[in-house]
Amino acid sequence: MDYQAVLDYIREAVEPKFGKGKVADYIPALAGVPGGKFGMAVQLADGRNFKTGDADEAFSIQSISKLFVLQMVMSHFGDMVWTRVGKEPSGDRFNSMIKLEMEHGVPRNPFINPGALATLDLLMSLKGDTKQRIRNYLRYLALNDSVEVDPVVAKSEYEHANLNRAMAHLMKGYNNIHMDVDDLLDTYCYQCAMAMSCVDLARAGLPLAMGGYSALHDASIISTSQAKRINAVMLTCGTYDSVGSFAYRVGIPAKSGVGGGILAVVPGKMAVCVWAPELDTFGNSYVGTAALEMFTSLTHTSIF
Ligand code: DON
Repeated sequence: MDYQAVLDYIREAVEPKFGKGKVADYIPALAGVPGGKFGMAVQLADGRNFKTGDADEAFSIQSISKLFVLQMVMSHFGDMVWTRVGKEPSGDRFNSMIKLEMEHGVPRNPFINPGALATLDLLMSLKGDTKQRIRNYLRYLALNDSVEVDPVVAKSEYEHANLNRAMAHLMKGYNNIHMDVDDLLDTYCYQCAMAMSCVDLARAGLPLAMGGYSALHDASIISTSQAKRINAVMLTCGTYDSVGSFAYRVGIPAKSGVGGGILAVVPGKMAVCVWAPELDTFGNSYVGTAALEMFTSLTHTSIF
């Protein structure tokens, strides 16, 4: 398979789709990102990689960070995480609170905002600086020591975090948040504001594709069972309330973020990351979803 030709073809084929989605503006610092950006990177199991467009440009990873925090928490706490969050799709927006009270402060899954807050709360119970722990882990996964937070995005997000703050307080009322809410939100905004490129994220996603093993690191980063489970949660919950149509169109586990990135995994073969900042109404990259749909069709990599 000529992956370079496939990526270059997709970059041209998605051109007419620009201008139909909308760059996230509920976090003001994200609103200024040019909508016409497009990058895509493939990281194969054997170490080869391919890229096109703006694949080396760092962008705000936003909710893609939830994937890596879940990995860290599962490595430290194992199945205990499932006492704090569920593993069912929510059918609601990523920042919805509608089910949270009815379900006694236990979020449906770790990828909606309340679930990510509960997961992070668990990570913060470990000794040491959680921000540094997250940053170091991302640097290690991406094999890139210049991975850094965007402090402007982090601040802007913290200043506009009313819904996330409300969720955290609600969960604290149900004893499902143990940390100080301000500290939790500050750390959550930090993880979301990490800036990484498609190339970085495709590297970081390789262990999920390969049963936990990364040839780039020559190491097992997570266990095979963790990789299997996280992929299942990605497939069923990773693209929020459009997860059904995403599976229908793209057909591989994926995690999106409102920065316009989507990290997807072809089990046993590769990790693929796309970035295009204009979002659909569900908060997933509009052009990015179309690009991944083309990718799995052209390379016959849908798992279905
Ligand atoms: O909490 C928020 O709203 C953002 N930091 C993350 C949301 C996000 O990326 C959801 N993704 N589609």
